Amino acid sequence: MKVLLAGGAGYIGTHTCVELIKEGHEVVIADNFSNSCPEAVKRVEEITGKHIPLYEADVCDKDAVDRIFSENNLDAVIHFAGLKAVGESVEKPVEYYRNNIDSTLTLLEAMKKYNVNRFIFSSSATVYGTPISVPLVETMPTGSPTNPYGWTKLMMEQILTDTANANPEMSIVLLRYFNPIGAHESGRIGEDPNGIPNNLMPYITQVAAGRLKQLGVFGDDYPTHDGTGVRDYIHVVDLAKGHVKAIEYSSDHKGTEIFNLGTGTGYSVLDIVKAFIKVNGVDIPYVIKPRRVGDIAECFADATKAKEILGWVAEKNLEDMCYDSWNWQSNNINGYK
Ligand code: NAD
Ligand code: UD1
Repeated sequence: MKVLLAGGAGYIGTHTCVELIKEGHEVVIADNFSNSCPEAVKRVEEITGKHIPLYEADVCDKDAVDRIFSENNLDAVIHFAGLKAVGESVEKPVEYYRNNIDSTLTLLEAMKKYNVNRFIFSSSATVYGTPISVPLVETMPTGSPTNPYGWTKLMMEQILTDTANANPEMSIVLLRYFNPIGAHESGRIGEDPNGIPNNLMPYITQVAAGRLKQLGVFGDDYPTHDGTGVRDYIHVVDLAKGHVKAIEYSSDHKGTEIFNLGTGTGYSVLDIVKAFIKVNGVDIPYVIKPRRVGDIAECFADATKAKEILGWVAEKNLEDMCYDSWNWQSNNINGYK
């Protein structure tokens, strides 16, 4: 199968590229490098031993997208291309709505023109809003996201569902990711955020690398086992394999289907810090800070549906996630730079 990875040079896209190639699929990447670089794709080529057709293109650009579809006989699209920094989305809502929604619409228009009917979308657990209970099940109502980033995900889920309703030939798979961390076991590709990381694991690895002084733990008075926030951390390679299963599933599927991609287990911030220290033998100094605005106490998936329908389960454990995150960062202190 030939798959277009829009935003395929990014953190989740590069790992998915490796797993798709491993399973014998062909890939084409389109990325504008707004949050990535060509070096990441070179490293995927190094890991897989395959040449990867790469277009430096904004997927909001209709002409550029048309060219990609006309030059490649595509079977499916995976849409990773999005802006994803929650805080920045509050400051720059128009940029977020423009980029995230326009890219989706442009891809859908090209798919219609070239009769490509299979679309896998990077959604997020953020669409559940504040959970009414955990674990989160796909049938639970979506909530009110607390920021424009979250709203773009919810809006795109609606746009995609409406598109599938209007076209009986179409398969739309909405993948709601929980908290991806970790890196490929080679240590050659991994997460390389711009500036000071917002997310927990890249912050921890940069403290371990000496790039940041200490971790701030946002709140220790949540109703959780140790008072710190609980999340469902999932190894990015497991997440990537979920995309391979989704692509295979979409060949016999029509309509819209939603899958949580998580492990089903929640760990607190301090669970993660302690596991990281134990597995890697490096210290992570931390200080307790006030709660971060918009954070929730607890969020983890019920991943039964992905197991039953896609035949997918997360296989890697917390130790693997901590080991691989540090293996990537310690071998690439300044990321891809
Ligand atoms: P990332 O920033 O590493 O990857 C996104 C890629 O898309 C980048 O390479 C960026 O340059 C590219 N891009 C952005 N806008 C583009 C455009 N208009 N045209 C072409 N390329 C464009 O992020 P990621 O962590 O790999 O996330 C991938 C997707 O998964 C995003 O849509 C994100 O919102 C979603 N997601 C991520 C997480 C997470 O924790 N990483 C959680 C839930 C959902
Ligand atoms: C955040 C986003 C969410 C997005 C997800 C993946 C917010 C409010 N939510 O989720 O929309 O889909 O990232 O990109 O930003 N923590 C610290 N110190 C830090 C960083 C984080 O204590 O320096 C804590 C947080 O309070 C939380 C946990 O670590 O309890 C995980 O945080 P993070 O990695 O930012 O993910 P989420 O908050 O789940």
